[in-house]
Amino acid sequence: MAYAAFRSIGAYVPSKILSNEDLSKMVDTTDDWITKRTGIKERHIAAENEFTSDMGVKAAQKAIERSGIDKSQIDMVVCATISPDYFCMPSTATVISTKLGLKNITAFDISAACTGFVYILSIAKAFIEAGMKKNVLIIGAEKLSAITDYSDRGTCILFGDGAGAAIISVTDNKDEAIIDIHTGADGEFADLLMTPNGGSGSAHDSLEQEAGSCFMQMKGNETFKVAVKTLTKDVVEILQDNNIQSSEVKHFVPHQANLRIIKAVGDALKLQDEQVVLTVEKYGNTSGASIPMAINDIYESGKLKAGELMLLDAFGGGLTWGSALVPFSPLK
Ligand code: UT7
Repeated sequence: MAYAAFRSIGAYVPSKILSNEDLSKMVDTTDDWITKRTGIKERHIAAENEFTSDMGVKAAQKAIERSGIDKSQIDMVVCATISPDYFCMPSTATVISTKLGLKNITAFDISAACTGFVYILSIAKAFIEAGMKKNVLIIGAEKLSAITDYSDRGTCILFGDGAGAAIISVTDNKDEAIIDIHTGADGEFADLLMTPNGGSGSAHDSLEQEAGSCFMQMKGNETFKVAVKTLTKDVVEILQDNNIQSSEVKHFVPHQANLRIIKAVGDALKLQDEQVVLTVEKYGNTSGASIPMAINDIYESGKLKAGELMLLDAFGGGLTWGSALVPFSPLK
């Protein structure tokens, strides 16, 4: 039987920092409000000529190097992004593949907003278990600053840029395998979080008029309530389905949207503080990149060890949601 193992992680964070103080000079807000309501102190912003693919490449290079797998062995690249280099095509995954010098691969993007990384993890697992692919590079990469309205204090305080990547490989050792992944979606809540302009849903003339305004819009407070409920339910179900206690989880890695959401979910699951991975303070919400960037943080600080169980939990536009039980299984 072919199983899928989570072999390695990498991430990239652009150098420019946008602090709460900076934002308070741009919109009617304060460091105090942002810190209390979100836990965010700063976020990183890509350079003007730095594309989503450039950040994805840098994260991928680290993940490949740490995997111990030669890049010629990678047979699929999947990128989760809502801020692709190009509207429609080519996909950011194909751009990343070419920049990495990968040949003879399958490459495509998916759109599942902040749940994107859990979705691409499930795609990698499915392709590997079906025997169709052996080594899949998955990347969550976002240049959200390109689709953020910096005159809207309800959204611009939240989002940042960055990328994270992982190598998922075939193994015949069940102990190394990704245990389970749940994914879900409900378009009934689509209007909570959306980029309403610029797609085929816009009339042709408005598409031209609004070409420069394809910004994210969010009903923050309603999204907040649905997020807490959905994230908690999702995690309770995946733990129950697999007969695993929350105390067996070494690292709970939630999507980093808001410290209050993460705390509410952590409390509902009776998780100890040391189980909960937090990066929201320094990176803000980086959508599909937030979970792999957080995993990279615990890896680089030496907290993530071989065999330790991670519980991933995400929620985002669509609405979409997902959770995953993933042992960290680097090659020995
Ligand atoms: O990643 C995918 C999913 N996204 C999320 O999960 C985001 C979920 N939502 C949130 O994180 C929070 O709802 C926000 C941080 C966006 C907003 O926090 P909130 O506690 O829900 O505030 P609110 O929208 O209920 O607004 C409360 C007050 C309002 O003023 P009034 O009507 O009470 O006078 C807002 O106008 O805070 C005001 N406000 C702000 N004040 C200062 C809203 N944004 C700001 C701001 N600075 N940036």
